[in-house]
Amino acid sequence: MNQDGLKKQAAEKAAEFVQDNMTIGLGTGSTVYYLVEAIAKRIQREHLKLTGVATSMRTHRQAESLGIHMVDLDSAGPIDLTIDGADEIDTNFQGIKGGGAAHLIEKIVAINSARNIWIVDSSKLVKTLGAFPLPIEVIPFGSARLVKSLAFEGLNPKFRLGEDGKRALTDSKNFIVDLHMEKISHPHLLASWLNKQVGIVEHGLFLDLVNTVVVGTENGTKVLDAHRG
Ligand code: 5RP
Repeated sequence: MNQDGLKKQAAEKAAEFVQDNMTIGLGTGSTVYYLVEAIAKRIQREHLKLTGVATSMRTHRQAESLGIHMVDLDSAGPIDLTIDGADEIDTNFQGIKGGGAAHLIEKIVAINSARNIWIVDSSKLVKTLGAFPLPIEVIPFGSARLVKSLAFEGLNPKFRLGEDGKRALTDSKNFIVDLHMEKISHPHLLASWLNKQVGIVEHGLFLDLVNTVVVGTENGTKVLDAHRG
């Protein structure tokens, strides 16, 4: 099966975790695209009453077009479950997100959720994080200086460009800078350092956040429990 097939497999399995009357956080990306379709099908088939909170304009538009009742985070009650994709997940269930430039809103929704499930194809499981460039969302003002200082620290930063060749803008109208570090040996240390840098709105290290990972593999879907509260 190709990578898309494995993503779809994981998404469809994760849609089974959704229960009637839940408020669900909906992530962003190509795997979540299949999830939103699968949830919309369940709503039609089983007449589920669900409320969705999206992590991007893209997901909001898709979910609404398929008839999912969507509200924004501040109008929503407690979020029972958020299901999202990921770019890399290590053996300790720590992750990198933000390949789709949505990690700021994704993290806000995730930390406000009682439970977080990630859906990935098996290529996203890694021993050590960092082969996937770590995205950081930065305020445009002074961003070139910030990038220089990140380069000085050896983090190999590169502005992410859009299809038009200009710096890509997030839903919050910030830039994305990708840190090409190859290997992140101490994710917690890096996260706390990045948290202190003025101008960085949020980084894509999602640490100690996920409860369950649903993986699409050639041998079927695997549900991995991170044993977190
Ligand atoms: C968006 C994300 C996505 O969840 C991540 O990039 C995975 O995307 P895909 O499911 O398309 O592989 O973090 O900011």
